[in-house]
Amino acid sequence: MTRTKMYVPRETAAVSVGADDVALAIARLAKKTGVDIELIRNGSWGASWLEPLVEVEVDGVRITYGNVSATDIQSMFEAGFVTGGKHERRLGPINEIPYLINQDRWTFWRCGLINPLSIEDFELHQGFKALTKVIADGAEAVLDAVTDSGLRGRGGAGLPTGIKWRTVADTEADQKYIACNADEGDSGTFSDRILMEGDPFGLLESMAIAGFAVGASKGYIYLRSEYPLAHSILSRAIEAARNAGWLGNNIQGSGFAFDIELHLGAGSYVCGEETAMLESLEGKKGIDRYKLPLPAHAGLFGKPTVVNNVVTLASVPNIINLGGERYAGMGVNRSKGTLAFQLAGNIKRGGLVEKSFGITLRELIEDFGGGTASGRPVKAVQVGGPLSAYLPADQLDTPMDYEAFVEIDAMIGHGGIVVFDDTANMAQLVRRSRRKLRTNHG
Ligand SMILES: Cc1cc2nc3c(=O)[nH]c(=O)nc-3n(C[C@H](O)[C@H](O)[C@H](O)COP(=O)(O)O)c2cc1C
Repeated sequence: MTRTKMYVPRETAAVSVGADDVALAIARLAKKTGVDIELIRNGSWGASWLEPLVEVEVDGVRITYGNVSATDIQSMFEAGFVTGGKHERRLGPINEIPYLINQDRWTFWRCGLINPLSIEDFELHQGFKALTKVIADGAEAVLDAVTDSGLRGRGGAGLPTGIKWRTVADTEADQKYIACNADEGDSGTFSDRILMEGDPFGLLESMAIAGFAVGASKGYIYLRSEYPLAHSILSRAIEAARNAGWLGNNIQGSGFAFDIELHLGAGSYVCGEETAMLESLEGKKGIDRYKLPLPAHAGLFGKPTVVNNVVTLASVPNIINLGGERYAGMGVNRSKGTLAFQLAGNIKRGGLVEKSFGITLRELIEDFGGGTASGRPVKAVQVGGPLSAYLPADQLDTPMDYEAFVEIDAMIGHGGIVVFDDTANMAQLVRRSRRKLRTNHG
């Protein structure tokens, strides 16, 4: 008899609402009742409002049960959970949940789907395919594909990634670096974390691709200290990738050398700013540098450095696999491709929604988010963290487009959307934002 595959996320939001207890209860009851299961701790699909979201694979289809608690497991087993039986927590097949199937999953498609710490599962789902291709095709092809895609930095400023990579590639130096910004400090943001916890090898592959494209042999991940689970998952993934020859001196015998070091930040918002992050990586106090020289010319330890956000980097493998034009075909105007919007604050269905640019705030908040959790009218929405703005309800029809946001004196930033209802005290909120900016130097 084959083992029944069950999935319980090991992801910070899911764990915070009891996923570990759920996993334990399933393992115990399966053992007690003699059911042979393979319990996989996957990442999150991003539907945080349904966590813990438990799945059981029945005839190749993954059947979901939402908001499961450890105390539900007994009755779920009695209801035939092992074969996808009916229960009040049952939501149906994963590929029929509107919140998920109405997204444009380009960067996050493996999150939830795979076992994040299984290199075999990663490879079964196109893992390292893009890296293998770029090593065969050469650096120019990568630089062209990233430029053609129109990909812009997802960390905040929205700078064209292709130009940044090309600048580092064209700068002569004996040593270059890739610095992945995983400081994720904007309010209401968690997409970097979901990616790192759900698809860590995807990030490592992306950094190696960036390294190959620009001629860098060393990468750093600057991870915020508030993400201990991501730290543990990434540490294990780096070790596994090294053991499997996907990081190190001679990747898969190609002669290409690239390795990654994981560095923990110390809880400073300002250290997310790229030059302060570089200072901190060098072991100094995290204070931002003068703008020139650019990190692309003289960054980490004075060497040419690509600084990119987690999501920017993780968007690249599919750009290699599917083509830059395909990515550029999504989105609007100069905002190409997709962004992982994060719905937070006073919202009914909070979570991650990866959609092409051009969707409006209203569509995100109402169609995906289901409106406010309180059921009261939206008063304001903070998009893009404390450096951006609070938008009033009459600006909800603004399309998600970098330039459209600049026109209304706002920023898309990292795509964090924090919703407030009509009881919110705006003066107090703004005061708190300002305080965060003033006091949070490293
Ligand atoms: C105060 C401040 C905080 C920032 N925090 C972050 C952060 O947490 N994560 C991030 O990726 N970018 C952050 N940025 C933007 C970075 O300076 C930089 O633009 C980004 O890492 C570049 O990567 P990208 O081109 O892929 O977006 C911050 C910027 C400022 C001014």
